[in-house]
Amino acid sequence: MENFKKIGRILKMKKIFITGCCGYIGSHTCVELLDAGYEIVGLDNFSNSKPSVLDGIKKISGKTIKFYEGDMLDKDLLETIFNENEISMVMDFAAFKSVGDSVSKPIEYYINNVSSVLTLLSVMKEHNIKSLIFSSSATVYGTPEFVPITEESKTGGTTNPYGTSKLFVEQILKDLYKSDNDWKICIFRYFNPIGAHQSGLIGEEPNGKPANLMPYISMVATKELEYLSVFGDDYDTKDGTGVRDYIHVVDLARAHIKGAEKLNKEKSGLFIYNLGTGEGYSVLEMIHAFENANHVKVPYKIEARRPGDIAECFADSSKAEKELNWKATLTLEDMCKDAYNFTKNRKNN
Ligand code: NAD
Ligand code: UD1
Repeated sequence: MENFKKIGRILKMKKIFITGCCGYIGSHTCVELLDAGYEIVGLDNFSNSKPSVLDGIKKISGKTIKFYEGDMLDKDLLETIFNENEISMVMDFAAFKSVGDSVSKPIEYYINNVSSVLTLLSVMKEHNIKSLIFSSSATVYGTPEFVPITEESKTGGTTNPYGTSKLFVEQILKDLYKSDNDWKICIFRYFNPIGAHQSGLIGEEPNGKPANLMPYISMVATKELEYLSVFGDDYDTKDGTGVRDYIHVVDLARAHIKGAEKLNKEKSGLFIYNLGTGEGYSVLEMIHAFENANHVKVPYKIEARRPGDIAECFADSSKAEKELNWKATLTLEDMCKDAYNFTKNRKNN
């Protein structure tokens, strides 16, 4: 009997509610969690994803998630989800993420990225579920004072509503933890996730013309776009172009399992981790790495700097390595190959 109770407790512990489960990072995390034996309840409103992602997750993992279509701002729906399922932890990926869009639509961004979290937190509190992993971003560091960036580096100085929305939510979570030490909260600050699942079945599908570097490079390689504009070659960096910490999305997804294990182990706490590789690559290095990995040409032109860009941003992720026993293992070549594989697949389907 005691054994059954124990198994029951373990199973109960394993049901995780994933918001934004059909998005880029959410879908890869679902695959890794299913693979590790977790059960998933997912929510998405398809504002930036497609229902076919659910088929991709099923094909890769051979498992299904219990899916709800709807909005995280819909408190009644969240109540229903928490009433109908034994949820023990939440991973919150649902948000709008376009920096450019956020400048022209600040109200929509603050509602979707901040109000929705408040709705979620209030329902979690009502149901006494106090375990949360939140997707934040390296953008909260603004223009970094030094690189590599540690979790102790100064935050703030964000230059757009998207970045500020992440900063606000981090503050809300800190205030919440201060008010009630029963919470277990893990804030992950992602650096630049790129790549796709090795199967080519799920990946990053930006709406329209991509704003980020890797999807743009991939679409130049498949000839859907003519050439890449390199935004500035006069930064104080190794070759004058911007330097970032690109991390394979599957490595990022795997960190969430480590995060879940950590929260299951701890009695309470608020933990913040940078998730990057610790390596900075320039735009030109990325172009050449992509060309070498995939044996394709990526035509480019040097153009003016993009407003709001910083010269250099890469992570010190040693805290995650030490405390979560997590480290990115996939290489830049893997990132380039998997990104191209997915883009080719998507183009042909
Ligand atoms: P994404 O847009 O691919 O995924 C977000 C998913 O959430 C989408 O499927 C979208 O339809 C859904 N969604 C958005 N608002 C919703 C709402 N109100 N209700 C229900 N579903 C909603 O983005 P992503 O790249 O997977 O990012 C996931 C999280 O990580 C976001 O919070 C993002 O801000 C953060 N982040 C992403 C990056 C990156 O480069 N991709 C970097 C740092 C942080
Ligand atoms: C951007 C966002 C960041 C967000 C991240 C993931 C800004 C200022 N920051 O980061 O908040 O978390 O996306 O969504 O927008 N580049 C080109 N040509 C291109 C595209 C990019 O040269 O067509 C360069 C950029 O100048 C930069 C690097 O490539 O040096 C990476 O750009 P990008 O992929 O957009 O990511 P970030 O700007 O780092």
